[in-house]
Amino acid sequence: MSYWTEKITIGNLQFPRFIGGPLDGITDSPFRQLVRTFSQDELLYTEMRHVACVANDKGAAKALFFQQNERPLNYQVAANKIEYIARACERIMLAGVDIVDLNIGCPAKNVIQSGSGSALMADPSRLEAILKEFRKLLSIPFTVKIRAGFKCKNAIEIAKLAQDCGADAIAIHPRLQTQRFEGRPDYELTAQVKKAVSIPVIVSGGIVNWTTARLVYEQTGVDGYLIGRGIWGKPWKLQELQENSIGRKFDVNVATTMAYARKHLDLMIEYYGKSGLFNFRKHLPLYLRGLKDASILRAELVTNPCINQVRDTLSTLEKAYLPATSD
Ligand SMILES: Cc1cc2nc3c(=O)[nH]c(=O)nc-3n(C[C@H](O)[C@H](O)[C@H](O)COP(=O)(O)O)c2cc1C
Repeated sequence: MSYWTEKITIGNLQFPRFIGGPLDGITDSPFRQLVRTFSQDELLYTEMRHVACVANDKGAAKALFFQQNERPLNYQVAANKIEYIARACERIMLAGVDIVDLNIGCPAKNVIQSGSGSALMADPSRLEAILKEFRKLLSIPFTVKIRAGFKCKNAIEIAKLAQDCGADAIAIHPRLQTQRFEGRPDYELTAQVKKAVSIPVIVSGGIVNWTTARLVYEQTGVDGYLIGRGIWGKPWKLQELQENSIGRKFDVNVATTMAYARKHLDLMIEYYGKSGLFNFRKHLPLYLRGLKDASILRAELVTNPCINQVRDTLSTLEKAYLPATSD
């Protein structure tokens, strides 16, 4: 068995090394269902929800509603104090997820102003109390997603703290809060974090294909790979990585891409009702990327208010791009 066919162990659970990361507003329930048509065993993170919302049914009610076929799921939360954690954990475990993840990496202004997300990396004593509360309450594996640091790099210290407080794995997005999602990810720091802890380390940042995954493995020796923007518009990305890692080719042609875009639209409508079309507009340009007349199609489809017309155009494109048969 090679490194790439071995699984990552998180608590008492095992998963393929390629994992679907959290992208707020993108990797929602419909998207995760679409990913499941390609990848059944891979762990998928949910988008981040604050424990207060989960506990009080405010805004996050939809987020606790998912299909069982989306599992294995890592349900991601944010917290800034102990309050609400107990009720949130109770509700999340009742909904039936496999892991709970605490986000201490989010750089968004409103999140850090409330003292959650990456702001917690600059407040280790408050973080420690929060980590201990989660560990005490959760009977399922618990993970933490960190950054390189808030204003300065302290990922090693925070990773050790998370391990000491009972976390089962750490995902690191090796950029500072100030870098948000841009700039070179610090893989040297990731390698140091990997050396500093004995629990599994998952890297998040810059993995878009098998070449980048292999290079990052060589530089860091990590245990898992969280795929973020690489999966946006490519719900087959985890399968592609899995296949490529064992030397197999994996291609998705344009006709199949259009078929999956249409399926995605249908899942969005099923989940969100009519507003699903509006939410689908974030995905549509990525499915059209590289097509002849992509910019004209994009302009036409992202402004079209008619669900059936958008669906019909995707069907027409699917037929137009069907590969020619030899007979
Ligand atoms: C639009 C967008 C939304 C994101 N939402 C979340 C989120 O809800 N929770 C989280 O931990 N990270 C979130 N991230 C960060 C990603 O999970 C990931 O760590 C980062 O994008 C780097 O990985 P990538 O290069 O594979 O995208 C988000 C990133 C983007 C671009």
